Amino acid sequence: MSGVPGRTRRPDLPLAIVIGAGGMGSAVARRMAQTHRVLLADIDGEAARAQADSLARDGADVHPLACDVTDTDAVAALSRMAEGLGGFRSLVHVAGLSIAADDFARILAVNLRGPALVAAALRPLARPGASAILIASLAAHSFRPSPAVIEVLAMPAAPDLADRIAGVLGAENATPATAYALSKVGLLQMARREAADWGRVGARIVSLSPGLIATPMGALAYEKSAGKRAMFAQTPLSREGAMSEIADAVEFLASDRASFISGTDLLVDGGLSAALGYPQG
Ligand SMILES: NC(=O)c1ccc[n+]([C@@H]2O[C@H](COP(=O)([O-])OP(=O)(O)OC[C@H]3O[C@@H](n4cnc5c(N)ncnc54)[C@H](O)[C@@H]3O)[C@@H](O)[C@H]2O)c1
Repeated sequence: MSGVPGRTRRPDLPLAIVIGAGGMGSAVARRMAQTHRVLLADIDGEAARAQADSLARDGADVHPLACDVTDTDAVAALSRMAEGLGGFRSLVHVAGLSIAADDFARILAVNLRGPALVAAALRPLARPGASAILIASLAAHSFRPSPAVIEVLAMPAAPDLADRIAGVLGAENATPATAYALSKVGLLQMARREAADWGRVGARIVSLSPGLIATPMGALAYEKSAGKRAMFAQTPLSREGAMSEIADAVEFLASDRASFISGTDLLVDGGLSAALGYPQG
């Protein structure tokens, strides 16, 4: 592939696929772009392009793509693009809806079915040393679904995922907050369940659970949830995390320094989950 003057191309670098060009996704893409070419995908193609342009101005080699992770054709196109770019080294699935989206089915589709479709489409391209990192949430650590729900979550790519979960929960319990927590429980399960498949080719899959992180989406969720405001008050470090602190953890998990870490979750929450288990009097 020959280059275009004025446009950075770094064929010498491995490819990182970052799904989500919102607050955290952009911070992750910016970090990964220091050591990777980046394929940056988002349902909002304009947002992906704007972030790619901004990173390119810093000398990064970024390829934007409009991709709805709940659309199997769009995910197949993502996979073809990744293949055309020579396969990938790091996949970071960041995109997700908060409870502010206020739609039980859509939250489950974007936060769980989407990553399941993306991981299934990209795993055949994984090579030794590759890794997949699924951005989950602290919410997954404080929610204990029933065995019947766990069973449904074990098939996250099912087209009727949300209906099946609602059927088990009952309509009165099918709230956006429950969809959010369950979607993230499903991601933790997915990393554990799929570690063997990824391991067969020498690749890894992990989830990463951020606590309260200062992002525009995170700020919106405070308006919808008094519980979230109460949690803020209990965070041992007395602040939200910065997006750069999530990028730090992603960078580590994607690196060879994490070469024996697979099938598990990394909680990056400033100690909040621990503090909730040991309330101060
Ligand atoms: N902000 C926090 O405090 C916090 C805490 C825990 C976990 N998280 C998780 O971190 C992730 C990112 O959060 P954020 O604050 O950066 O969110 P954000 O809203 O800024 O970004 C999410 C991005 O996902 C994209 N998106 C939505 N639907 C999509 C689809 N169907 N296909 C592809 N892209 C789609 C949106 O266009 C947006 O750019 C989410 O998964 C969220 O659940 C956030």
